[in-house]
Amino acid sequence: MKLAPLLILPLAVGFAWLASCGTEPIAGSYALSREQLQDPESCRSCHAQHVDEWSGSMHAYASDDPIFRALNKMMLRDTKGANPSFCVQCHAPVALREGATKDGSNLDQLPASMRGVTCYFCHSVSAVEGTHNNPLRLADDLTMRGGISNPTTNKAHRSGYSSLHDREHLDSAKLCGTCHDIVNPLGTHIERTFSEWQSSLFADPQLGKQLTCGKCHTPGRTDVAANAPGVGLRTVHDHKMPGVDVAVTPFPQLAEQRAAVQASLNTTLTAKLCVRPGRLGTDVEVTVDNSFAGHGWPSGAMPDRRAWVEVEAFRDGSSAFSVGKVAADRSLVEVATGDWLLFRDYGYTEGKKLTHHLWEIASYESKQLTPSVTNNTQDPRFYHALTKVYEVTGSVEKVTMAVHIRPVDFDLVDELIASGDLDSAVRSKISTFTLENTVLEWNASKGFGCTK
Ligand code: HEC
Ligand code: HEC
Ligand code: HEC
Ligand code: HEC
Ligand code: HEC
Repeated sequence: MKLAPLLILPLAVGFAWLASCGTEPIAGSYALSREQLQDPESCRSCHAQHVDEWSGSMHAYASDDPIFRALNKMMLRDTKGANPSFCVQCHAPVALREGATKDGSNLDQLPASMRGVTCYFCHSVSAVEGTHNNPLRLADDLTMRGGISNPTTNKAHRSGYSSLHDREHLDSAKLCGTCHDIVNPLGTHIERTFSEWQSSLFADPQLGKQLTCGKCHTPGRTDVAANAPGVGLRTVHDHKMPGVDVAVTPFPQLAEQRAAVQASLNTTLTAKLCVRPGRLGTDVEVTVDNSFAGHGWPSGAMPDRRAWVEVEAFRDGSSAFSVGKVAADRSLVEVATGDWLLFRDYGYTEGKKLTHHLWEIASYESKQLTPSVTNNTQDPRFYHALTKVYEVTGSVEKVTMAVHIRPVDFDLVDELIASGDLDSAVRSKISTFTLENTVLEWNASKGFGCTK
């Protein structure tokens, strides 16, 4: 269909901000309706790889996750619906904004296009109007915004450049960060990934070394951004965005997502194990350093997440000392002692009771490995690694160490099963990951000293 030149001209001027070139802003002539744009499956014919990567991500899983649904249900019951949309504002943001859900109690009846953090949600963001709890404004003008400043025209949708979507631009950290920063209805800052990043070396423009969330979490590759006519090679960005969590029910791309989580965890920390003669026989010194996370480690869902260091010393072929050992199906809460290097948040109710009910947390104490905040070696904060010495009785022939992380621990899972909110089959799906870089072994044959 041909439009009269008179009609094209004012529209072209109106959308001149969209992109420097390559965009043909002919309103009404794009194939995908608003409803279709909201459905990730409509993107597959041209962006198959983006769809595959996203479909196994925690963004796709955000409102399917049975642990999320169970905890949301418990919140609605406990608070008698005082803040019904508190959880779904981030876990089902499209459904909430479209009025398809009010409180998340009907998530399993919603179509796929309303579930989780979708393509349409991220790619419609036009402004950030706050610092936490998803203050993202959606333009809802059917323009798919991204980091490409000269997108090839396509028949399906209008495209537009946005610095909020460009990982080379510091602004882009707000798009991710303001959802990854939670203040609960009591005013407690229960998850702080964005603010941790903001006070890190990586957010500091003075140092000229800034790394946005996307620089670390959406690695680039050279590829076509779309399988469509006239499209050339560019840097395109991985949408798996692995962290720690993996789906606990059948879900697409499960093996790929798990492998990506493992690979990303493997290189997060650096570790050192030193063995020396000591007061009681042998001193075992362990050091763990958050070298590569752009925020604290772990971060985010810390009231339920557990990371810890395991150390074991051997004499005559059997264990002579150990700390940080827990069976794969037991809660750390049952076994951890003050001797453990355990990283998590301790959230407390107003009555100072320990809780993992996110909505009840009135204060907290956080134990995490802090990120780099300076590259000045004269500044004492440059050395932010954590070191602990274990005094072992007698001599030993071998010492091992490893750091582990569990996305969510059994104290929460078992409570949700007991309350009838969670299927007990989920219990056997809870993962524990070991960070490869931190698996170290010292042998007496090497003599006293350190291994890294
Ligand atoms: C008919 C093919 C086609 C379909 C279907 C399609 N796109 Fe695109 N899209 C393209 C082309 C072509 C480009 C430009 C690629 C380039 O220039 O390298 C593009 C670019 C984009 C960009 C980048 C815009 C920018 O300027 O940075 C985003 C984001 C995007 N598409 C999202 C989507 C989403 C979400 C869907 C599904 C709702 C979708 N697309 C469906 C063909 C398509
Ligand atoms: C959590 C937010 C988020 C979600 C969800 C998301 N994207 Fe993106 N996407 C981005 C960001 C940010 C960029 C730009 C990266 C850059 O240029 O620095 C991007 C870039 C793109 C591009 C341009 C090419 C590239 O790789 O840079 C396409 C095409 C695209 N996304 C398609 C999709 C599709 C299709 C979906 C759903 C199946 C989707 N995105 C889901 C945030 C998201
Ligand atoms: C609409 C809010 C929202 C936006 C915007 C958003 N996220 Fe997320 N993100 C979530 C939610 C909710 C989850 C967790 C879902 C779950 O596990 O149930 C999540 C999960 C993740 C995870 C996995 C965490 C884990 O422990 O496994 C990573 C990594 C991540 N997001 C990175 C990003 C990056 C990078 C961006 C920006 C490109 C971004 N997110 C933008 C809401 C958001
Ligand atoms: C310098 C690189 C870097 C930057 C910058 C960065 N991250 Fe991370 N992030 C990591 C690494 C490394 C991990 C740990 C590996 C993993 O969990 O897979 C991680 C973990 C995470 C996780 C999983 C939660 C956990 O327990 O650790 C989330 C969610 C996340 N990052 C979100 C973000 C957001 C949002 C931003 C921007 C505000 C950001 N990251 C900036 C490197 C980075
Ligand atoms: C401001 C946005 C936001 C709000 C509000 C929010 N979440 Fe989340 N939620 C996230 C993000 C982001 C993650 C991923 C965190 C990470 O891994 O660092 C997440 C992760 C989770 C997870 C997975 C954690 C795990 O390790 O298994 C559960 C379960 C969850 N949220 C439940 C809830 C419940 C229940 C509520 C309401 C009481 C809620 N969330 C409110 C953003 C939000």
